[in-house]
Amino acid sequence: MRDFDEHNITAAVIERFAGTPDARLKQLMTSLVRHLHDFVRDVEPTFEEWLQAVMFLTRTGQISDARRQEFILLSDTLGVSMLVDAINHRLPAGATETTVLGPFHVEGSPEVANGADISAGVAGEVLFAEGTVKAADGTPLPGALVQVWQSDAEGFYDLQKPELDGMALRGQLRTDAGAKFWFRTITPAAYPIPYDGPVGDMLTATARHPWRPAHVHFMISAPGYETLVTHVFVAGDKYLDSDAVFGVKNSLIREFEARSAGAMPDGVVAEGPWRYLKYDFGLKPLTA
Ligand code: BEZ
Ligand code: FE
Repeated sequence: MRDFDEHNITAAVIERFAGTPDARLKQLMTSLVRHLHDFVRDVEPTFEEWLQAVMFLTRTGQISDARRQEFILLSDTLGVSMLVDAINHRLPAGATETTVLGPFHVEGSPEVANGADISAGVAGEVLFAEGTVKAADGTPLPGALVQVWQSDAEGFYDLQKPELDGMALRGQLRTDAGAKFWFRTITPAAYPIPYDGPVGDMLTATARHPWRPAHVHFMISAPGYETLVTHVFVAGDKYLDSDAVFGVKNSLIREFEARSAGAMPDGVVAEGPWRYLKYDFGLKPLTA
């Protein structure tokens, strides 16, 4: 076939994928072509605009490396990451809601005992965090692996602070025989996602801000259950309704309660004011 025009080219391109051996790949390519062509027909880009789009994607690739993934950031800021997350996490009652993983999780963070201080000496307001891990139906899950990571009081992760010697404000612990976990740390702060690249340019050009409300990340796993990737957000944060990556859910917001000097829940005495966070997590069973 020849003589393609704006009316017949979509069907012709889709037809070219007709022999794709993998049925899912065929579905993906067909739908991608249909939606991409519809987008082009909708906005009717000039050649200059199309070149600008190509150069934007080129820069998105060029700034990415082993430590920085600008395409994920683009997916996050366009709400695609949370859409994929929602489609893949239609949860039963009792299961904790999920949110984005983000770029600051690392494998192999320090294994610590319950009660440990994961701040590694980074300054900030003391936070005592505790909770339980149960199945969605309420069955306690002793021995569940709880990975935690967070920003400091200025909104920086350890990976963003080259002056730090090793990891800080992250760790992994296990729930005890009663399915409880507890640790101390410092209260996290809101922070901007990396905005010195093309995604930042997109935010600026569209009058959007790059901020995420303060939160603590959790990744919780137990045999027989889906690994839970989520955050607990600090109630009252001014960015809760405008998170740059659309990750906030009401069920994930908690008061980080202000307490005065004195004994914390595990008996250790805080010499100054501290904050208290409690969150009970529910895991979704793996389906057969
Ligand atoms: C984070 O919460 O660590 C994060 C999530 C998405 C993009 C950037 C940061
Ligand atoms: Fe974060």
